[in-house]
Amino acid sequence: MKMVSVVGARPEFIQATPVSKALRAAGVHEVMVHTGQHYDYAMSGAFFADLGTPAPDYNLEVGSGAQGKQTGEILARIEEVLITEKPEVVIVRGDTNSTIAGALTAAKLNIPIAHVEAGERSFDRRMPEEINRVVADALAAQLFCVSRTALRQLANEGITQGAHWVGDVLYDAMLQNLPVARTRSTIVADLGLRPGGYSLVTIHRAANTDNPARLAALVTALSAIDEDIVLPLHPRTRAALLRDGLEFGGRVRTIAPAGYFDMTQLEENARLIATDSGGVQREAYFLSKPCLTLRDETEWSETVTAGWNKLVGVAPDVIADAWFNFSPPAQQPPLFGDGRAAEKIAWILREFAVEQLNEDARNARAAYTAGPVHTEVSA
Ligand code: UD1
Ligand code: UDP
Repeated sequence: MKMVSVVGARPEFIQATPVSKALRAAGVHEVMVHTGQHYDYAMSGAFFADLGTPAPDYNLEVGSGAQGKQTGEILARIEEVLITEKPEVVIVRGDTNSTIAGALTAAKLNIPIAHVEAGERSFDRRMPEEINRVVADALAAQLFCVSRTALRQLANEGITQGAHWVGDVLYDAMLQNLPVARTRSTIVADLGLRPGGYSLVTIHRAANTDNPARLAALVTALSAIDEDIVLPLHPRTRAALLRDGLEFGGRVRTIAPAGYFDMTQLEENARLIATDSGGVQREAYFLSKPCLTLRDETEWSETVTAGWNKLVGVAPDVIADAWFNFSPPAQQPPLFGDGRAAEKIAWILREFAVEQLNEDARNARAAYTAGPVHTEVSA
């Protein structure tokens, strides 16, 4: 039984790892396809090294590009792989251009799709990620939801068949790796930081980086905060700052993109996290850190409802006010499962693939028995 896993961007390497391990433990032959959407060592190779992610069987090396070009390149290159490998299932995750390209190609080849992190919505179709999610969910045969909210959202859209609430594989990854990260990472001490004495920030969303006014507002806001801030810079943000001639000042320290162990240690020891990342919002919740989301909306609305995440947008006065005054409640409901989402996904997919194979066999038998009738020709 063969399944192709498509990965391409940083969060996909992290999310894929627990699922890969569980699939392989369940006896599935997994073929790992890296689209090459992210390619710098700090954005890609470092995660395979930290997490022990299986090395890609294929690297399509598509690199960066405009939305259509990047998506189109992945489509063309992944098609050849799927035709060669003939998997029973193609697994895509999240909402990147690698996700939509993997899903679209599989759909056109009539290969069933599994979408991990299905049903998330920001309800803002200006985001490329929203388009990617909606299309992947429309095409998927098996949909794995991180939360009950996502499962309900799929039902609202009429998608119930094959939809499961399994929990968040990002939570699995954190539980599996936190003990190792604590012993291996020295980043907090290396940066001269005191646990609980700094805040952690990440910014990379197109809505914040491609819009000079929003980026400038964020630079102004963070530079004015009277607390040490560590900001691992996504290459997209680094390029946008250069483009606009902007620099962080005050107590903001920008560093290279962090590896997974370093990142989780920066998160675990921070007083507060401020981010526009989907994954970092959830990780703040897993680690019980107050989170300010530097956006006007979020897919992770349950963390806001629970009182642990606050949408602050980019206005400097709003951010300054929330920075020292936002205080989550004592209670924290378990929103993201029990840390065994990957195992559940693996077993559901295995069963699904077995059914597919049986159905294929039934169809082949039916075609054979209903085939052309042999007519005796008398000599
Ligand atoms: C992508 C995803 C986004 C996800 C993010 C995770 C889409 C539409 N967006 O956004 O959902 O949250 O990944 O980080 O798929 N770059 C490098 N080196 C790299 C990778 C990127 O320099 O290894 C630079 C390039 O200038 C590139 C830019 O970053 O143009 C943006 O990269 P891209 O993959 O297009 O989008 P992300 O912003 O990373
Ligand atoms: N991450 C990391 N190093 C960084 C920034 C993020 O390891 O410098 C991890 C983070 O802990 C989370 C994931 O990358 O697990 C989130 O990815 P990202 O913010 O790039 O994308 P998103 O989740 O918004 O799609």
